[in-house]
Amino acid sequence: MTQDELKQAVAQAAADYVASNIAAGAIIGVGTGSTANLFIDALAGIKERIAATVASSEATRKRLEGHGFKVLDLNEVERMPVYIDGADEIDPGFAMIKGGGGALTREKIVAAVADTFVCICDASKQVATLGKFPLPVEVIPMARSQVTRELAALGGTPKLREGFLTDNGNIILDVHGLAIGDPVGLETRLNQIVGVVTNGLFARRGADVLLLGTADGVKTLRR
Ligand code: 5RP
Repeated sequence: MTQDELKQAVAQAAADYVASNIAAGAIIGVGTGSTANLFIDALAGIKERIAATVASSEATRKRLEGHGFKVLDLNEVERMPVYIDGADEIDPGFAMIKGGGGALTREKIVAAVADTFVCICDASKQVATLGKFPLPVEVIPMARSQVTRELAALGGTPKLREGFLTDNGNIILDVHGLAIGDPVGLETRLNQIVGVVTNGLFARRGADVLLLGTADGVKTLRR
């Protein structure tokens, strides 16, 4: 199977997960990226069960609205049963690197309001140790040079994502060359750097459920 076919299978499995595990009339948090896009398309098949959604990016909001889903501002929502999103890497403890699509800040905020984080990805995203995928860090533009120095001091090689601004009007530094043995510790450390809005480690609040697209079918794994 190609990677696109695996993503398609896992997206359909995620819509099936919602149909089987989430009561009708719920609000669903929706992630960003190519796998999340396929999930949105699959979710449209059970639209009548979904009261509303919360989007983790402008791109996701547009796609949800294109399918006729109601999209709420997160401030209107106290809790959601589930947040469903892709990942760039996921480790055996279900810590993730996210932000390849640059939506890490809104993704982390929406995920924080959800009871269960369901990660949807193909098997290529499963790693023993996070860090081969460059770690995205969203930064206030005026702090770029200072944060670059701080990230370099931690042993990484930060590179500006050229020509890209987040939905929040900030820049992304992609940090290469980190072998992340302690994802919770590094996520916490990066949160202390002045000028960093969000880092792409989702370890303090990792995934609870992993729907993994493999050549043998979609596997459902729990932390
Ligand atoms: C966007 C993300 C995505 O979930 C991540 O980049 C995976 O994307 P894709 O499903 O396209 O492989 O974190 O900010």
